[in-house]
Amino acid sequence: MLKGLILGIVLTLLVMIGGVYLYFSTGRAPVAVTDPPFPFEMKFAHMALDAHIEKQAPPPSPVAADEKSFLSGAEVYKQHCAVCHGLPDQPKSFIAQGMYPRPPQLFNGVGVSDDPASETYWKAENGIRLTGMPGFKGRLTETQIWEVSVLLANSDKIPPSVKAALVAPPAGAPPAAAAPAKP
Ligand code: HEC
Repeated sequence: MLKGLILGIVLTLLVMIGGVYLYFSTGRAPVAVTDPPFPFEMKFAHMALDAHIEKQAPPPSPVAADEKSFLSGAEVYKQHCAVCHGLPDQPKSFIAQGMYPRPPQLFNGVGVSDDPASETYWKAENGIRLTGMPGFKGRLTETQIWEVSVLLANSDKIPPSVKAALVAPPAGAPPAAAAPAKP
């Protein structure tokens, strides 16, 4: 009786594993950006990410959430994040439009202002696998990552000076080229 039950369980498991294998190996799984999502794809991906970050318990920000940090964070953001995550009142880039999963537009609506800066710090430092979200550890300094993280944690209440800095060309950029002279 017990033997039969165990055999039943093992067979069911084998059939399930075989089914999953066939689903992938016969090209049925979604792979294009415009394909509909995989069943429960987002739910599982976000559950795994949230649980992982919680387990690692990133420390609170050593950088003050003030205008000075926001202005430094704005320069980092413009150079390394804006192409995917957008700027205040600007249209989405083609890169952002063509990605899956979609990079959230962090200055549109709540963005990540409902997450602690430490959670954003973790994501920017380590990246998010298989999504296109890069990890910046060792490429940006820890201070730069904290500055952009406190900026994003306050994206819904930045002062006008910071908003102006975000939409201005990056610091040190050459002035826009003059139109070529007509022959
Ligand atoms: C090449 C595109 C790309 C660049 C550049 C990029 N990201 Fe991302 N980012 C993504 C994508 C795509 C996601 C969505 C991942 C997902 O759905 O899990 C994401 C997610 C995030 C999230 C999580 C948002 C949420 O709702 O929880 C944060 C925070 C973030 N990025 C911060 C940054 C910061 C800060 C930078 C710059 C230092 C940056 N990203 C640069 C593509 C990018």
